[in-house]
Parts: sequence; structure tokens; C-alpha cells
Amino acid sequence: MIMDNQSVISHFLLLGLPIPQEHQHLFYALFLAIYLTTILGNLIIIILTLLDSHLHTPMYLFLSNLSFSDLCFSSVTMPKLLQNMESQDPSIAYAGCLTQMYFLLVFGNMESFLLVVMAYDRYVAICFPLHYTSKISPKLCVLLVVLCWMMATFHALLHILLMARLSFCEDNVIPHFFCDISALLKLACSDTHINELMTFIMGGLVIVIPFLLIIVSYVQIVCSILKVSSTRVIHKVFSTCGSHLSVVSLFYGTIIGLYLCSSANNSTAKETAMAMMYTVVTPMLNPFIYSLRNGDMKEALIRVIYKKKISL
Ligand SMILES: *[C@@H]1O[C@H](CO)[C@@H](O)[C@H](O)[C@H]1NC(C)=O
Repeated sequence: MIMDNQSVISHFLLLGLPIPQEHQHLFYALFLAIYLTTILGNLIIIILTLLDSHLHTPMYLFLSNLSFSDLCFSSVTMPKLLQNMESQDPSIAYAGCLTQMYFLLVFGNMESFLLVVMAYDRYVAICFPLHYTSKISPKLCVLLVVLCWMMATFHALLHILLMARLSFCEDNVIPHFFCDISALLKLACSDTHINELMTFIMGGLVIVIPFLLIIVSYVQIVCSILKVSSTRVIHKVFSTCGSHLSVVSLFYGTIIGLYLCSSANNSTAKETAMAMMYTVVTPMLNPFIYSLRNGDMKEALIRVIYKKKISL
């Protein structure tokens, strides 16, 4: 377990969720169902957007990118969690742990940035409908998506490089279901001040600022709708914005609570439950909240199935 120079740990133990032994099977089935729903919901969106040319609009291209990130985001943690619940050996290699953390950061950030881009896209579409095509050009879409990927990759690399400097001594038990930054920082036996500072500063930049930008866009949308439209439209926009804002708040709220306002008296059980919200629940809800409810997706599904039937 501990290699020769006494300061290098070759693997960690992921304790997983604090679930009583008699409920393990129930939760295993629940998480498997959640994971399969996530995969299916997001895959449907990606495939429909690829196949149906009516959905080749900026909004749906961003959405299918979000679905792709959701799919990957939950695949970084869920299979390992399910495997660990099954097996008696919950170990993960040091390199595997850092790799998991890297991809979790990349796809988590990607999701955060895409949610901002999507809020901006809706803001322009609703507040400046006449300038929409000139403001959100296909070129800008590609640029925004590439920019999101670059920022997400850079931010993840920064954390991984900072984490790789640390040494870990005897304690290799992670009381969590994935290799979480703050859980690993607690185990490190070298100085973690820079890591904590960077987690705080970068967390503020990639989480709090996107969250505020999203809120501002939705406030602008609501204001412009209230000025002009009929009660029916107001009702529709409120229900759409309300559901978007609730998943957005769940995602950002739990991350802010965990990494930026964490207090020492938070129990690990509470922290893992909160981590579940943003790593497991929001990737599952996103496709349903953002698109499967709306008419365009249903029409696209019917068109795609109908076309298949004709070609057969
Ligand atoms: C992501 O967005 C880009 C640019 O809008 C688009 O070209 C690409 O097909 C999208 N990727 C996925 C997986 O949907």
C-alpha cells in the first residue's frame, strides 16, 4: 500500500456513500436507474440534434454540447460508484484518482460555462429577436463552444498540477464516492495553503461569476417579457425560466455550498449528499428540463422516426 520512501501512496480507498449495509441493494438499483436515465436522456438529445436539420440552431447545438458534458460528467463518477458498491475492494490508483478529478473538473466547468452561454443565447433571442441571427452567428457559436472547452481544460489542468505537488502519507481513506478536491486536500501531508487559496479564487471565477451572469440574463428576460406580452406568454416564460433556474440553482448552489462556504462542522454524510446533487442529479435532470419537455424536440423525434420508417 505504501511504497518504499514512506511518503508516496500508490492508491486511495473510496469509502463511497454512508449507506447502511441492508440498503445497499436498494441504492445500487436506484443509482443504476439514475445513471441509465442520464445516459438515455442525454443521448436522445445528441442523436436528435445530429439527425434532424431543424434542430441545427445555436440553441440546440449548445444543448447537445451540454448533453455531451452531462453524459461524460456523470460517467466520470457513476460507474466507479456502482462498481465500488458491488465489490469489496473500493480502491482507486493514485493516477486514476487524479484522472477522475481532471475529467470531473473539465466536464463540470464545461457544464457551468455552457449554462451561461445558453442563458445568453435565450437573452438575445427574447430581448433582441430581430438581431438574433446577426448577433449569434454560427461562427460565434463555434467560438463560444471552443472557448468553453479551453477554459475548462485550463482550469482543470491548473488544479491537477497543484494537486500533483502534494504528498500523501499514511492516510489514504477518502470518505467520499469520488476523488473530490477538498477530500484529497484533507488527506495531504504537505502544505495545502496554495491549493486552498486557488480552489477558492478559481471557484469564485468559474462558479460564482457564471451563476450571477445566468441570474442577470434571466432577470433581463423576465423584465422584457413583462413589458409587452400577454398573460399566456408570461405564464409560459415564467414556467420555462423557473424550471431552468431551479436546476441551475441546484447545480451552482450545491457547488458553492461545498467549495466556497464549507465550514468545518459540515458532516461528511451531508457533504456527500450535496455532492450527489451536482454530480448525479443535475446531469439527469438537465435534458428533461431544457428540452425533452419542449415541443421542438418531440416534433424532431417524430420526424426522425417517420423518416426512418419511410426509408425502410
Ligand atoms: C457543439 O457545438 C458546436 C458549435 O456550435 C457544434 O458544431 C457541435 O456539433 C456541438 N457538439 C455536439 C456534441 O453537439
